[in-house]
Amino acid sequence: MVATIEWKDNKVVMLDQSRLPLEVINIDCTDYLMVADCIKKLKIRGAPAIGIAAAMGIAIGAQEIKADGFADFVKKLETVMQALLSTRPTAVNIRWAVERIKKLLNASRDKSVDDLKNLLIEEGKKILAEDIEINKAIGRWGAGFIKDGDTILTHCNAGSLATGGYGTATAPMLIAAKEQGKRIQVIADETRPVLQGARLTAWELMQAGIPVTLITDNTAGALMKKGRINLAIVGTDRTARNGDVANKIGTYTVAVLCKEHRIPFYVAAPLSSIDFSMKSGELIPIEERDSEEVTTIWGHRVAPEGVNVINLAFDVTPAKYVSAIFTEKGAFKPADIKKLTKKDVNIDSIRLRPR
Ligand code: MRU
Repeated sequence: MVATIEWKDNKVVMLDQSRLPLEVINIDCTDYLMVADCIKKLKIRGAPAIGIAAAMGIAIGAQEIKADGFADFVKKLETVMQALLSTRPTAVNIRWAVERIKKLLNASRDKSVDDLKNLLIEEGKKILAEDIEINKAIGRWGAGFIKDGDTILTHCNAGSLATGGYGTATAPMLIAAKEQGKRIQVIADETRPVLQGARLTAWELMQAGIPVTLITDNTAGALMKKGRINLAIVGTDRTARNGDVANKIGTYTVAVLCKEHRIPFYVAAPLSSIDFSMKSGELIPIEERDSEEVTTIWGHRVAPEGVNVINLAFDVTPAKYVSAIFTEKGAFKPADIKKLTKKDVNIDSIRLRPR
């Protein structure tokens, strides 16, 4: 599998997802502004992947800083952090990465500026390595909810490309198929307007040897009605403490359709995508993107010049539609997610078991 992102020769190297699947090319980011630009332009995308990109963007930004001691270094690094924070508002993972790095810096006040710069490179690499392990753990908890012969619907791309590797929504599929020998099929929504399902999920699942069938977004309901979908698994950009889930636009529609057809609707969410400080999904900032994403398809205009467009990048699915949230700590009812922050919680007592 091609790496989504890595730190190599003092550069942040990322696969250009805006070109996939037609071209498989890397971009070498040599400064933090390039990293920020790649995040904005969806050259790297998916909540965990942009969290990792932000951490590595901070590390590369740090290398350029000339500072006279800790306080001066941290002050100058703030500009870098703000630039990365301002790229995309919905995924909480960028803020999560920035907060983690701030905590690390606070605990490293006695270090020299050179040592701090190295520390940030190591932290970026660590976040990447941890992400892959977290996804495998999500996969192990989630795979139990997949039965032999199941057909799984997914929306957007919450796969390897959206993370450091392995994916969140795709991790249970990979474990179920590759480690548990379950025969599964995946149905990928194409995911207008930017086609992450058609371009990315279809491509990476084919590479991984998982049978995948591509549908237009508006086909999902008809297939559910015919009994051809057994469950849905999607990712999330930010899940609020009440279990409401923000994910790619169209996820809400999938969840409502699942409820109507009594199909389980699961969300795969690393803890880094859960915003425990946010009370409800209604408060999640929803990114609005350029109208050209809707009026054109890969540079070809498909709508009349001057038409009004609404291009919300994400929607919020209320917790009541979510059957379970798969995390690295287990599968939970959405209402129980907030309990994970309690020090005295008996995690085993709130874990959901596959039926
Ligand atoms: O706009 P994108 O492509 O960044 O949207 C990505 C999604 O909606 C994913 O489902 C989400 O980030 C989870 S990725 C594991």
